[in-house]
Amino acid sequence: MRVLVLGGGGREHALVWKLRQSPRVSEIFCAPGNAGIAREATCIPADLKNIDQLVQLGHRLDPALTIVGPELPLTLGVVDEFERRGLMVFGPNQKAAHLEASKAFAKEFMQRVHIPTAHYAICRTPAEVQEALALIPAPVVVKADGLAAGKGVVIANTKEEAAIVAGEMLARKLVGDAGAQVVLEEFLKGEELSFLVVTDGTTVVPLVPSRDHKRVGDGDTGPNTGGMGAYSTDDLLDATMRRWIMQHIAYPVVHGLRAEGVIYKGVLYIGLMMTARGPMVLEFNCRFGDPETQAVLFRLESDLVDLCQSVAGGTLAADDLHWSAQASVCVVIASGGYPGTFTNGRPIFGIDDAEKIPGAKVFHAGTAHSGDQIVTSGGRVLGVTALGSDLQTAAARAYEAAAKIRFDGMQYRHDIARTAAAGKRQ
Ligand code: AMP
Ligand code: GLY
Repeated sequence: MRVLVLGGGGREHALVWKLRQSPRVSEIFCAPGNAGIAREATCIPADLKNIDQLVQLGHRLDPALTIVGPELPLTLGVVDEFERRGLMVFGPNQKAAHLEASKAFAKEFMQRVHIPTAHYAICRTPAEVQEALALIPAPVVVKADGLAAGKGVVIANTKEEAAIVAGEMLARKLVGDAGAQVVLEEFLKGEELSFLVVTDGTTVVPLVPSRDHKRVGDGDTGPNTGGMGAYSTDDLLDATMRRWIMQHIAYPVVHGLRAEGVIYKGVLYIGLMMTARGPMVLEFNCRFGDPETQAVLFRLESDLVDLCQSVAGGTLAADDLHWSAQASVCVVIASGGYPGTFTNGRPIFGIDDAEKIPGAKVFHAGTAHSGDQIVTSGGRVLGVTALGSDLQTAAARAYEAAAKIRFDGMQYRHDIARTAAAGKRQ
């Protein structure tokens, strides 16, 4: 069968790589893809915010299954349009994707269905910000309401700083359109966990747990990014806690939406803080995480096509997924300057050597061709991913492979999964 993947980052490369392992798949198209995906699928140029163009592409290719990677086309309603034309598609519709598109909506929904989350206030004016700040102790977390590619969240150490940041977001200076309202939130202490589930709107099945490293620098320093690396191991979560999260968070979200007339189908990414008060939701995403997907799909033993079809077709069963007991690590190699400004077009060397390391694979994120040469084309450039019998082995392999890669100005964190692998708390 023919499968279409929408997107062109590391997550989509991992999806394409996994799809190729399915005996049911004969042809994979990816729009727009990248230089690495082009080795494994037919790439087609596409503008992911142009829904008409994507619909035309779906019409032309007539895939048996389409998987939507990034949030933008989901929040613009690509799933609604594909379904209207009878095309099977994996991902939530526009209403369901609102859970990610609006942090204010997500907070109010969580309050309605009693899902544990940080105390918050939604503010539309600087005066409302001042009023709310009187009630939230510092540090204060300030969030732009709309999509901001992981860059719309600032942790302000003082109330004065929070007022300035919120004021700038309201004036839309920081994050494009994502600033018409802001969410101010209580700062939560604990370890973060990416808890992803798949659901067909009724049945909910967890993926293996993973952890992202959001700050740009070693030791969790510097600004937030889209994610500088991730790892997955069963040690992140025991069975009791997993059941608790399913019962008190994952199922209430899916069934709470259903009660409000919204059928959520696809992946639901639940960003958790494991606090002393128990797991609390930091955010929802309506899609696979990036770079969590690279680590998580490395451990998936089931057929990805079967999974996506059962989700999209409403036939998901609780025992549908089988996983490797091994651990996986993904180290992101980024352009110098990311998450600020950076230069594209730097030639990349060493990818083939990196892939000679046993158990390692280099997923491309921001890459393009310049003639025969693969060059950088984005902030996050590559995701060097490896599997190992334990976290330490997986991390050692990923770093051995990452050390083979070279391009001008490249940067990566040296501590992905390292503190956890050493048995310390992260
Ligand atoms: P979000 O996009 O809402 O997940 O926020 C991005 C990152 O900011 C999270 O992954 C956390 O590292 C941090 N963050 C968000 N909300 C809070 C909070 N209430 N307390 C502490 N850290 C937070
Ligand atoms: N890695 C965080 C995200 O995908 O949003």
